[in-house]
Amino acid sequence: MLRPRNGSIQHDTIDAMKFNAATTIPQGLDAYIVHVYQNEKGLSTPADKVDKQLQGAITRETKELKFKGGVGETLVLRTQSGKPAKKVIVVGVGKKPVKLDQIRQATAAAVRHARQSHFKTVATPATGGKRLGFDEVAGAVVTGAVLGVYHFDKYLNKEDKLPNITFTQVAPSANLRAVKQGITRAQVETDAVRLARDLVNEPPSEMTPSELARAAKKTAQQTGLSITVLDQPAVKRLGLNAYLAVSKGSQEPPKFIRLEYRPKGRPKRKVVLVGKSVTYDSGGINIKPSRGGMLEEMKMDMAGGAAVLGTMSALPKLGPPVHVIAYMAATENLLGGGAYKPGDILKSYTGKTIEVGNTDAEGRLTLADALAYAIKKDKPDEIVDLATLTGAAVVALGNDIAALFSNNDQLAGRLEKASKQSGERMWRLPLPEDYNELNKSAFADITNSGAAWAAGTITAALFLQNFVGKTKWAHIDIAGPAWADKDKGYLRRGGTGYGVRTLLEYLRA
Ligand code: BES
Ligand code: ZN
Ligand code: ZN
Repeated sequence: MLRPRNGSIQHDTIDAMKFNAATTIPQGLDAYIVHVYQNEKGLSTPADKVDKQLQGAITRETKELKFKGGVGETLVLRTQSGKPAKKVIVVGVGKKPVKLDQIRQATAAAVRHARQSHFKTVATPATGGKRLGFDEVAGAVVTGAVLGVYHFDKYLNKEDKLPNITFTQVAPSANLRAVKQGITRAQVETDAVRLARDLVNEPPSEMTPSELARAAKKTAQQTGLSITVLDQPAVKRLGLNAYLAVSKGSQEPPKFIRLEYRPKGRPKRKVVLVGKSVTYDSGGINIKPSRGGMLEEMKMDMAGGAAVLGTMSALPKLGPPVHVIAYMAATENLLGGGAYKPGDILKSYTGKTIEVGNTDAEGRLTLADALAYAIKKDKPDEIVDLATLTGAAVVALGNDIAALFSNNDQLAGRLEKASKQSGERMWRLPLPEDYNELNKSAFADITNSGAAWAAGTITAALFLQNFVGKTKWAHIDIAGPAWADKDKGYLRRGGTGYGVRTLLEYLRA
């Protein structure tokens, strides 16, 4: 084993950056970051100011190097005078009107450059206006910087340690407070995203259901959330048989995790979050193929649970007036001698019987019971689940966009709005009544494997809908965006923490 079992799940990058706000540019800076737009004649106001200080060096160099100002394009200039800093990093933010995500991506590029150049102190002018508040922009800068330098390096023997960076945002005094607020909020949010990324990136034999429960307990202890973890016998007594069937092929016991955040004062509404928490998905007896089965990536199958746990970890610090309860039905999906089999018929928590058409469609079995149980126990106003549920979602929407489903337009609208703000993209798909036909079974009330090749993402969502009754419900299939195959913008290869910032935005009020 590589580390003690109770070892910290957090690591190096946690303290890799310090953020602050000031009204003047600090003395002796290593680098000052200014942005330029794409397809614009002139420079941005801050870049123009520095350009004048440097006798037109930015104008000259950008022209000479055919610098386009595309999002994340960077160019470094040395200053003779050391003013406003030893170096100036010119970074493209893309086309106007600039969206928050362009700022996140551009900052990630600039800071990664700074870090690789061993700069220790950097600063950038704070911006804002009518369209984007100073707080939002300051937050986007922090988010891009923190998530862009994130690296899951816990298992690396590294020689070359990159320096910690102090990052100052220079604001007009009238906006200083807003900038500070934006920084603080984004630091809490990115801590939560990093937690989610760490949990996903842990190797599957480390991040077992028991370890996930331990991580949840640790988070609860540190932040003041309430937590209960039920063991297999207790879950059996409750009758969550569809969930437990999935766990039968594994020697690792399942853990049913419930976290609770209660706001101070009267809550505006009660929300349940459910995260798919299959800590490793081999496919079970319907084992995934070596080629194309993404077996080495199926540790990501608890990314929904990781996003939910990350979200919960931030709530006590952010203090939204919403009562939030989270569920993670953690299990492995393996193929030991006790494994559930294709052809099995399961009696789910609601009493509905399910024919197992395919043991690789395990996620919906765990979620069906978790959703139904949560609704019965907590009677939430709305329930939202996040799940790496179907490969078909990746085929339909690729790696950058999640599939959103909901039985309530208003709830879907609020999630879409939150997603626009966070930059975590999603696209709503329908729940066509007549497609329920595809989930019909000859021997049970429903099958877990409606035609996988036709509308696989929709039939999975329709399956879940059978277990939520009339409760306002949204399902987000994150099979694509939960994992990044390569570094991109402020995403780093591996778990992305997708969903955390959207959920925090959605829970804001
Ligand atoms: N965890 C997978 C879905 C998945 C695939 C997530 C690729 C991330 C990347 C899920 O449990 C699964 O295997 N679903 C099957 C369902 C089918 C057997 C009905 C699928 O999508 O193929
Ligand atoms: Zn599966
Ligand atoms: Zn799965």
